[in-house]
Amino acid sequence: MRIVVLVSGTGSNLQAVIDAVKSGELDVEIAAVGADREGTYGVERSSEAGLDTFVVNFNSFPTRDEWDAALTAKVASYAPDVVVSSGFMRIVSPDFIDAFDGKYLNTHPALLPAFPGAHGVRDAMAYGVKVTGCTVHWADAGVDTGPIIAQEAVTIEPADSEETLHERIKVVERRLLVQTLAALAATPPK
Ligand code: GRF
Repeated sequence: MRIVVLVSGTGSNLQAVIDAVKSGELDVEIAAVGADREGTYGVERSSEAGLDTFVVNFNSFPTRDEWDAALTAKVASYAPDVVVSSGFMRIVSPDFIDAFDGKYLNTHPALLPAFPGAHGVRDAMAYGVKVTGCTVHWADAGVDTGPIIAQEAVTIEPADSEETLHERIKVVERRLLVQTLAALAATPPK
């Protein structure tokens, strides 16, 4: 199973995938890692790991549609079986979703459909829920919507800050992502 991983930030979830591939725990080929901006640690650590990388810089395109078309073409050039949004902080167009129909996987640091969006951890804390978690799902054209594949709960402790809670969620999120990819590798989406 060939995957393309999209990142916007540090890519620690991506690192878990890289490590699992290296150790033989995960039998997938990381065809490329792409970002929507220059200077992400996710792309840097991928280059260091010897992976093919690319940047389709959102700010270099006059319109969102042109950026979207460029991203779609770039990702498609790797012919991936699965595209993983791993901390990729951009909403993609319905055309991107169509191009990778049923193949676009997203992870989210909350128990969807609760607390979608860019601040899932902060929003859960602000609401005052006692349990949150993470979700791995097939992404559709909405914001953190689409069929759920796996979820796991994480308890919010009274002393938690957004950072400490997000870090605990990410420990679970990394494992869930690797497990999901391992299960998919057995029967990649058509
Ligand atoms: C993850 O919690 C992801 O779900 C969220 O941003 C975080 C990305 O972390 N959208 P990293 O870049 O993998 O470290």
